[in-house]
Amino acid sequence: MAARMKLKLKTVFVLYFMVSLMGLIYALMQLGQHCDCAEHDLPKDRAISRLQEELYRLQGQIRQLEKAKQPEKKQPPKSSLSTIFVITPTYARLVQKAELTRLSQTFLHVPQLHWILVEDSPRKTPLVSNFLMKSGLTYTHLNVPTAKERKLQEGDPSWLKPRGVEQRNEGLRWLREDRKTEPGDDGQQGVVYFADDDNTYSLQLFEEMRSTQRVSVWPVGLVGGMKFESPVVEGGKVVRFHTGWRPSRPFPMDMAGFAVSLRLVLANLDACFDGEAPMGFLESSLLKGLVTVDELEPKADNCTKVLVWHTRTEKPKMKREEALQVQGLGSDPAVEV
Ligand code: UGA
Ligand code: MN
Repeated sequence: MAARMKLKLKTVFVLYFMVSLMGLIYALMQLGQHCDCAEHDLPKDRAISRLQEELYRLQGQIRQLEKAKQPEKKQPPKSSLSTIFVITPTYARLVQKAELTRLSQTFLHVPQLHWILVEDSPRKTPLVSNFLMKSGLTYTHLNVPTAKERKLQEGDPSWLKPRGVEQRNEGLRWLREDRKTEPGDDGQQGVVYFADDDNTYSLQLFEEMRSTQRVSVWPVGLVGGMKFESPVVEGGKVVRFHTGWRPSRPFPMDMAGFAVSLRLVLANLDACFDGEAPMGFLESSLLKGLVTVDELEPKADNCTKVLVWHTRTEKPKMKREEALQVQGLGSDPAVEV
């Protein structure tokens, strides 16, 4: 009954547009008639372009209505897809909003994604709070500051201390608390991925990781001083790792190169990132509590496709800004960048 009403309504709409269209076309034809009064030309031109705009608008609406009439593409119902929980540490800096914008607009294309954004800060900042509110994503906003002795100081080389550790652990803590349901419950179905805010992610990557049973793995582009690093797969199993540095690490992989099933995260309450781990061992500090190398599930065509890139954003130079600030002519601080 409701469907028939909807159909009728659509027919009425289409008829209404057809009639409006015909009226417009008639009006356009009338205006197009030859007139030898030169002073009438200007308002006439304006009227024509206004009518043309209206015509385009109506055509657009008709196209949208027709699109709505077409049967939807066959996709599994949303609820049958595993939710992907993406944990992202982030910290205040000039490029933060730009990074979060790029990231969130990728995530908007991924069905069933829940973003856990964890600020490295003692408080939730207005910039991130407002940003998330307007993002259109399903999200959880958390914050925890990195302990002072663990935080990189101005001028420190970036590799000196691991970054985003407390924040990822806070994301795991929240998930374990939030999903504390009976084993076997649907609430435990899902995938956890640690996505730094500066990398570049292909949409295909999320579909690859969605079927993770324990820990899935794939190559990461532009990382570790290499074109890519990757697990090496033989006979469907990970047998070693293609990396330029310390292949003897338990899991010589970048953070962007693996995802963990939520079930595994919930079954191993002690597994977390170790902020004291030596350089390059951060990923291993979590994974060694969860899987063995031969249990890893290779994705991305047996680890032959690069679907994520460890890009890093250049720090913007503020020389001119600082010079203008001295003269009291700096950029308006009320404008959020
Ligand atoms: C590499 C890895 O890709 C990271 O996953 C790993 O955490 C890092 O090394 C490390 O060794 O700790 P890299 O590009 O050097 O990444 O690190 P960043 O992108 O600067 O930081 C990783 C994440 O932590 C980002 O999401 C960043 O926003 C966040 N972060 C960074 C903080 O939350 N606080 C900081 O003070 C710095
Ligand atoms: Mn990075």
